[in-house]
Amino acid sequence: MKKIIVITSGKGGVGKTTTTINLGAAMNYFGKDVLIIDGNLTTPNIGIHLNSPEVPVNLNHVLSGKADAFEAVYEHESGIKIMPSSLSIRELTKIKIEKIKNYKEDFKKISDYIIVDSSAGLGNEALSLIGIADELIIVTNPEMPALTDALKTIKIAEQMKKSILGVIVTRVRKNDFEMTPEIVKEMLEIPILGMIPEDLSVQKALKLKDAVVHTHPKCNASRAYKEIAARLLNIEYDSNKDKERLFRRILRRIKIKKD
Ligand SMILES: Nc1ncnc2c1ncn2[C@@H]1O[C@H](COP(=O)(O)OP(=O)(O)OP(=O)(O)O)[C@@H](O)[C@H]1O
Ligand SMILES: [Mg+2]
Repeated sequence: MKKIIVITSGKGGVGKTTTTINLGAAMNYFGKDVLIIDGNLTTPNIGIHLNSPEVPVNLNHVLSGKADAFEAVYEHESGIKIMPSSLSIRELTKIKIEKIKNYKEDFKKISDYIIVDSSAGLGNEALSLIGIADELIIVTNPEMPALTDALKTIKIAEQMKKSILGVIVTRVRKNDFEMTPEIVKEMLEIPILGMIPEDLSVQKALKLKDAVVHTHPKCNASRAYKEIAARLLNIEYDSNKDKERLFRRILRRIKIKKD
């Protein structure tokens, strides 16, 4: 069944865009037809993350009735489809984000899995995006302010009668100061879909302008994103095999050096 999954958080800067892109890339890795939409119209980032900062037709044009939804779709070399938003302030004025609800069926004609990145906060933009979700994923960090905002988002989503798949906790360092998975679960009362470790490869990927799942497929963050995607898609995936393959490759390199 086709579905729109909205990635939201309440707090800003917790890893929504990174998660949107990499969950999309991981689903694509498992052979799924994915469309990533940059619903963060005020501060759009998807285009910057995926090396397409400016495109001639974008979501802003769709929402202002100047273009059809399929005209704002671009194909990444990986096969993921992307609908960016405009970086231009001029193209932001007069946009009514609430209109996005009128395009749900059009989005579903483009791909099977539509993953929507959203803006921080719980203003009109974030709420309009929650409004179009068939399913929601909450992104948070293992810190109290992020968890508090996540909880607020969950409560509002529940009032809107939205189905929440669970929470993804990102930038996990496993130190003594951060909130443990037990506290996260107790506080948010929704399933933890996965924990994404703090991983320098994520920032390297940003510099390379691609998803870390593409640039560093075997790093800890990529394997964690693939594990989550596999679980959501009901697909068998053994992330240890990816790790073993990485180790084998390193060993081979060392051997070559020795020779
Ligand atoms: N697992 C990770 N390891 C290291 N850095 C990460 C990780 N996940 C995200 N980051 C970094 O954290 C920063 C914020 O991430 P991102 O832009 O995805 O957050 P966001 O929630 O979309 O922010 P905003 O609310 O501003 O849209 C980025 O610099 C990103 O590279
Ligand atoms: Mg973002």
